[in-house]
Amino acid sequence: MNSNQPQAQYLSDYLPPSFFIDSVALHIELAPLNTKVVARSQVVANQQNPSDQLVLDGINLELQSVVINGQQHLAYKEVAQQLIISDLPNEPFELEITTHCSPQTNTSLEGLYLSDGAYCTQCEAQGFRKITYFLDRPDVMASYTVTIVADKAQFPHLLSNGNKIEQGELGGGKHYAVWEDPFKKPSYLFALVAGDFDVLRDQYTTMSGRKVALELYVDKGNLSKAPHAMASLINAMKWDEERFNLEYDLDVYMIVAVDFFNMGAMENKGLNIFNSKCVLANEETSTDRDFHLIESIVGHEYFHNWTGNRVTCRDWFQLSLKEGLTVFRDQEFSSDLGSRALNRIDAVKVMRTHQFAEDAGPMAHPIRPEKVIEMNNFYTVTVYDKGAEVIRMLHTLLGEEGFQLGMKLYFERHDGQAVTCDDFVSAMADANAVDLTHFAKWYSQSGTPVVQVAQKYNSEAQTYSLTLTQVHTPSGDQTNKENLVIPVAIELLNDQGEPLSLIIDGQPASKVLQLSESTQTFTFEGIVTKPVAVVFEDFSAPVKVEFDQPLSEQLHIVKHASSEFSRWDAQQSALTQCVVEAITKQSSEPTLPASVIETLQSIVKSTLEGQEQDLALVAELLTLPSFDTLSASFTHIPMDDLIKVTQSFELQIATSLEQALIQVIETFVDDKQQNHQSAAIRALLNASMYYLAKVNTASDYMVSQAQTGSMTTALGALKAMVSAQHSEALVQLNAFEKRWQDDVLVMDKWFNLQALRQGDGALNAITELYEHAHFSWNNPNRVRALLGPLTMSNPLVFHHHSGAGYQVLGDALIKLNDINPQTASRLITPLLAWKRYDTNRQKMMVAQLKRLQSLPNLSKDLFEKVDKALA
Ligand code: TRP
Ligand code: ZN
Repeated sequence: MNSNQPQAQYLSDYLPPSFFIDSVALHIELAPLNTKVVARSQVVANQQNPSDQLVLDGINLELQSVVINGQQHLAYKEVAQQLIISDLPNEPFELEITTHCSPQTNTSLEGLYLSDGAYCTQCEAQGFRKITYFLDRPDVMASYTVTIVADKAQFPHLLSNGNKIEQGELGGGKHYAVWEDPFKKPSYLFALVAGDFDVLRDQYTTMSGRKVALELYVDKGNLSKAPHAMASLINAMKWDEERFNLEYDLDVYMIVAVDFFNMGAMENKGLNIFNSKCVLANEETSTDRDFHLIESIVGHEYFHNWTGNRVTCRDWFQLSLKEGLTVFRDQEFSSDLGSRALNRIDAVKVMRTHQFAEDAGPMAHPIRPEKVIEMNNFYTVTVYDKGAEVIRMLHTLLGEEGFQLGMKLYFERHDGQAVTCDDFVSAMADANAVDLTHFAKWYSQSGTPVVQVAQKYNSEAQTYSLTLTQVHTPSGDQTNKENLVIPVAIELLNDQGEPLSLIIDGQPASKVLQLSESTQTFTFEGIVTKPVAVVFEDFSAPVKVEFDQPLSEQLHIVKHASSEFSRWDAQQSALTQCVVEAITKQSSEPTLPASVIETLQSIVKSTLEGQEQDLALVAELLTLPSFDTLSASFTHIPMDDLIKVTQSFELQIATSLEQALIQVIETFVDDKQQNHQSAAIRALLNASMYYLAKVNTASDYMVSQAQTGSMTTALGALKAMVSAQHSEALVQLNAFEKRWQDDVLVMDKWFNLQALRQGDGALNAITELYEHAHFSWNNPNRVRALLGPLTMSNPLVFHHHSGAGYQVLGDALIKLNDINPQTASRLITPLLAWKRYDTNRQKMMVAQLKRLQSLPNLSKDLFEKVDKALA
């Protein structure tokens, strides 16, 4: 093996650190090219894993000096991204390291960098080592005192974790601030911000009566976009007290919005740093989705204060310990405050669209990965979203009360510690006196299980049985699979659509069946007519279901299931089944069955008659599964057929619903208010416009929405026109650009729309936008705004048989490999799935991967993925 190749780390190699750092005093003098960092650490040897060398992590640092107990120390060497210090004292000692770093040239947006003139940091997972040499691992927890020095006029606000204990003036126009964080923390939770901001201030009184100052720092001029995030924060603090009995623990909670950020946001103790896109919103410039996203991310980062910060991860393989659990918590927060069904639909779409694909590709990994080259590559939908599904299954099995008992024990045992996923599962098991050994396999097994369902009705015995079989196929990373514990929530409906009571062996049975063996049969008694079974109600387990359920039964569920989620789910599987059948039959004129069209018509009809409770659910019921969700039904994606069939089905739906949808847009009016009901109307209007554009009606309505509608319907109208290649589309896109050119976040929405353009010149038109005044390769939001939708939501253009789409992505990745490897590594995803396309496309996708493979300076991030994809 080439010794220059990046090395993998293994979970099984975990060893405790040889030294601990109990406390650290950082003195940081900010300068663009030459920031000076003095780190004075109190170091203690760990007898559990003794070593006579102290090995510290550090990247792109200029070492100035090493001082031990006040004496210049020369017994050290700097090797590849490490500082190895020997001749150490036998007693605990003070280590002072002075280094320089260069925030201005740090385009990776990891460590200390400049975002539009403001200094900020991003240390998770391993960015602290770009600030100073340190034991940059989460099981080394220290108390931090941080002194920041900077020019006062340019950087009036100097922020770090915890409480400000001192500030003052220095000569030469400089000033300083000293921050102390009373809680020990791993280095990844360190944060520093220096800049000139507007501040929105509020206050929160915790359940025990402590007052907490809330501060939201935004770029000058953006105060009007801060109130929603502040309101979300207060809601989150209250919700965590009420539902989880968890209270905030510092005197101040700060959120800073920055424009240059690799991810959504970061939960640094007491000082969250957010991508401005995930904080800033007002009614004029933001969509309903934006408002919802902000609420959920503000909640997510706040909830980390307990699940992540107070109890943190022992090592990075345990990432799902904090992320899976915190996603589960933010999903519950959104569901308790808004619509449970719609939040569930959103979460399940992520699973089916992205997570199943990850499991089916070369990057497949368990929610607790076992082998990692670049940790940043494991902030995945598997660790986050499947991780949350695993927590949700625990919640389903234990119930809310049992789950909360487990949480309580978890905090009693582990507050202030860095722990493992096993510790979490043990707390859940012990608090409920149950054995979760078998369940815990969800942590170590990758891949999407398939559950086959067979039904049998016995009219003589009046019994109905469901036979469930779990099937596990090898995934890219793992060949041997074991059976899992799979909670299968069910409902049985009679022909009137009423739920039946469940009796097994003469006893009332739980609606949650537990499938733990390879095959099990559950027989229900006292069933007088053949029922219709709703299986995996509310997506009770992250599996694919194979159930040859007649279309009529699926449509019965759409009409009658108690769970609104399951109504949608049945609609999606009915539509998926129609698509799959049309493709396997190779019908030259694929046709949607009349019963499906009738179901859609009756949904719209009852909506117009005021009989549908939730118009946002109606909007979802009318929408075809996404291209990627449909793709999951095929091992080999029949690209061209899939495009042909979905386009034809959309046209059939549009034609047969045209009159009804015109009535919808005439009946329901957007009052532009921010509440669930108004947002639901907007969702329905958008779904309607999408179809109406396909049959070229209601053009005036769409143009007026694009020009004077709320941001949600304006974008809905534009998207409808762009994807239907409506004659007005480009004119309206240009008008939108003129109107919003001064607002970067709105311009990102415009880039999104541009990236969805169709037709011959589309790809060129899209890449010409690299020259647009607002586009910048250095800003991940801009890059993602353009290349995200192109590569993930515009299959016709991206997967064009010429391979031009792949070439565009390859070029972009080569550029981003140098500028920002994390962003590059997230964008490469569509190429990793090359094996699932036809041989022509395979060849062209592989050619792009090979181009990357041959780069002399390929980043670890891309190396790991390219290497796996080509293996
Ligand atoms: N812990 C963050 C979250 O889930 C994730 C995160 C923010 C992150 N920034 C990052 C992960 C940079 C890797 C790199 O809320
Ligand atoms: Zn998180």
